Amino acid sequence: MKRTCFNTELNESNVGQEVTLVGWVSKKRNLGSIAFIDLRDRSGIIQIACNEDTNLPDVRNEYVISVTGKVSLRSNPNPNLPTGKIEIVASEVKVVNTAKTTPMIIADETDALEDTRLKYRYLDLRRPMMQKYQDVRHNIKMAVHEYLSKLRFIEVETPILTLSTPEGARDYLVPSRVHHGKFYALPQSPQIFKQLLMIGGFERYYQIARCFRDEDLRADRQPDFTQIDIETSFLDQDQFLTMMEGLIKDIFKRTINYDVKLPLRRLPYQEAMDNYGSDKPDTRFDIKLHDVKEVFANSEFGGFKDVEAIKAIKVDGVAPTTSRKVIDGLTLEAKKFGLGGLSVLKKENGEFTGSFVKFLSEEEKATLNNVLDVNDDDIVIIAAGKYNRVCPLLGSLRLKYARELNLIQPGTFDLLWVIDFPLFERDVENGQITSTHHPFTRPRDEDLQYLDTDPTKILSYAYDIVINGYEAGGGSLRIYDQDIQKKIFQVLGLSDEDIKRKFGFFVDAFQYGTPPHAGMAFGLDRLTMILGQTDNIRDVIAFPKNLAATCPMSGAPNIVDEDQLNDLGIAVTDWENK
Ligand code: AMO
Repeated sequence: MKRTCFNTELNESNVGQEVTLVGWVSKKRNLGSIAFIDLRDRSGIIQIACNEDTNLPDVRNEYVISVTGKVSLRSNPNPNLPTGKIEIVASEVKVVNTAKTTPMIIADETDALEDTRLKYRYLDLRRPMMQKYQDVRHNIKMAVHEYLSKLRFIEVETPILTLSTPEGARDYLVPSRVHHGKFYALPQSPQIFKQLLMIGGFERYYQIARCFRDEDLRADRQPDFTQIDIETSFLDQDQFLTMMEGLIKDIFKRTINYDVKLPLRRLPYQEAMDNYGSDKPDTRFDIKLHDVKEVFANSEFGGFKDVEAIKAIKVDGVAPTTSRKVIDGLTLEAKKFGLGGLSVLKKENGEFTGSFVKFLSEEEKATLNNVLDVNDDDIVIIAAGKYNRVCPLLGSLRLKYARELNLIQPGTFDLLWVIDFPLFERDVENGQITSTHHPFTRPRDEDLQYLDTDPTKILSYAYDIVINGYEAGGGSLRIYDQDIQKKIFQVLGLSDEDIKRKFGFFVDAFQYGTPPHAGMAFGLDRLTMILGQTDNIRDVIAFPKNLAATCPMSGAPNIVDEDQLNDLGIAVTDWENK
């Protein structure tokens, strides 16, 4: 079994050559005296033609075989295959290994449920699409290594068994056998270590880093995921973002041969929220949020009185399909966002209609028309209440309509920076102040004056890169002044004791000559999703967890032996099921 080459390395120029190929039987068709085998290897599929002269043993789907034969032109080419113009006329087919009947169809079009795919992931990974996602992932990493190495970045590994890091999700803990009652935390990111590497004089660090966060899972979140983690010294925000734009451009070029136009748009956070209702806006379609508080300054409607924000979106052409049921659905959505409801107006035959019309004065109708440019068959959705609830609701509705109305052209990419994030955010429920990014994010110089008076007014040197409505990465300039860092901890309500226990070693390090530094982390999984054009993060991770954070293949997490627990000094009191 001396393989000549990969399947898709062959083309018409090889016609007449004798080759030996290896791979898996993807499909076999018997047509009387002739049989055709689709042979799949890492590179793709090629057709094998077996006739009465072929030494053909019994082969079935997913058998591993080797084929020796002559490259020939196909009488009926298949334009859907890269090797579709040729086939191998086999003299000999050998079975290298047999296979049981597989529990799922191994082809891009499979009807297997996701849990079956995850349980037999090694079979799922044989599907060409799944291999393509891993190719994209690998090419991103190659672009990262090349681009950053050229700029004198160095990859340094940081610990997996460590102390809690400050990203704000719940930690995964690892009990210590040697120190009963003590736990390592798995890193939510290498944040602290990469900053220490700047103090350590490396100036330019990167790492393809595994990160662990115990948070509710979503289509774009995994408990263990990978970051392209970066930190630099002595660059200002503009220099740093420009350097990162070069990286993104290289990644797009290398993986999908797409030319990203630079520089990327830089959208202040406030504008993103005002206009798109999101800090990760998808700006590929034109529905925007409009501030209509002024329009309703004298409104008789109770729901518009004394509210922080009144905002509206207009959706073109959907009035005829906006039934009572649709409006009930929208209202339900508003409730999920913590609002009492919303108001929907339709425009039909030149007039506003809908149950809300009775609250509108002629003047309000005229101004609404002016502000929103409402035409027949359009609808206007108005939401009133707290700004931090109104914007996300309308932001989510604009996305819902974009999807339903196919307003987004597939294969298009929309990249932008969101900058000037607030340094702190206040929890809508309990009013507590937390860091928007993490506590080491540097406040803008001009806003330092608010540290003692109104910290929520402070904006920061923090930035996210947003691609097609996904937060693909984020970072910030860091605080390198100890007094400012102490103040920030105070605003966050951390006592001296808390600081010492959580970040004592880190704060200490800052006393020994800390360079100004800045960094960010791209989500490698999310970048792969975007470039591979799937909306499911599990597609781009070889062995992911399902939405219940378990692995249907290995059964993790699982119970362990009593002895192991004893070694760790752990007694489980609350078994899920044993
Ligand atoms: P942040 O928490 O914003 O920043 O994370 C950076 C990027 O990582 C990706 N990401 C995730 N991807 C998959 N599953 C998850 N659970 C998940 N959580 C985050 C996102 C996100 O933009 N240390 C800072 C970076 C810095 O300041 O340098 C950090 O971790 O794409």
